[in-house]
Amino acid sequence: MYTPDDRKPLTVPALAEARRSGHRLAMLTAYDAGFARVFDDNGVDLLLVGDSLGMVVQGHDSTLPVTVDDIAYHTACVARGVSRALLVADMPFQADATPERALDAATRLLQAGARMVKLEGAGHKLDVIRFLVEREIPVCAHLGLTPQSVLRLGGYKVQGRQDEAAEKLRADAKAVADAGAALLVLECVPSSLAQVITAESAIPTIGIGAGPHCDGQVLVLHDVLGLHSGHRRPKFVKDFLAEGGSVAGAVQAYVAAVRDGSFPDEAHSYQ
Ligand code: KIV
Repeated sequence: MYTPDDRKPLTVPALAEARRSGHRLAMLTAYDAGFARVFDDNGVDLLLVGDSLGMVVQGHDSTLPVTVDDIAYHTACVARGVSRALLVADMPFQADATPERALDAATRLLQAGARMVKLEGAGHKLDVIRFLVEREIPVCAHLGLTPQSVLRLGGYKVQGRQDEAAEKLRADAKAVADAGAALLVLECVPSSLAQVITAESAIPTIGIGAGPHCDGQVLVLHDVLGLHSGHRRPKFVKDFLAEGGSVAGAVQAYVAAVRDGSFPDEAHSYQ
């Protein structure tokens, strides 16, 4: 059984054990070995080399310019700083457009040190998830606000507020788990919808702007440290450096707040 004090590396099967034992999973994005080491030493369960690096590291106004080379480079950097946390790498825009392309990209990311890849959406991505999982590549799905859909969505907006959209999200959440995903990120959805999806889900859910009822939470490193990228600050973001006093203190405060369920509160959730 997985316990929070476990110093053994967190494995993919241990994600389900963590959920069964009521251990809330704390996840942060990481892009280099130095921060990865601090996160790993201070109890962060999962590190994500997110394609958010396009915005917070490279300074673009979306994640669309990020390439497989970019994610592979940062994954290799982060992997050198990790001993316990489970390292997840994002599949960048269109790297998962077909099962074959996805297999090539995901293989590179696992060879760079990732233990799981994350990909956005359901629909035709269900075949991609199935194809990767059948080939021994663990997959984290990502639903709700999927930033790679920014052009179609017309901006970064809360998803699933209308009944029809909420029903579609519930169906998609079931479909990605049925396709073999082992973890599900829910981004920017009303708290009550994330609660229903989590209750129905066969796999652990990780929220970002999805309220307190998910099985874990993820935030972008720069947001936890109060570093503003020049883009509008979403409601769910919290500066933990202010209360933690140092980078390690901020990480400890974030992990403690995720574990005890005090983050996110209502002020950092969508109703
Ligand atoms: O790219 C990223 O950092 C992400 C998280 C915000 C979930 O996808």
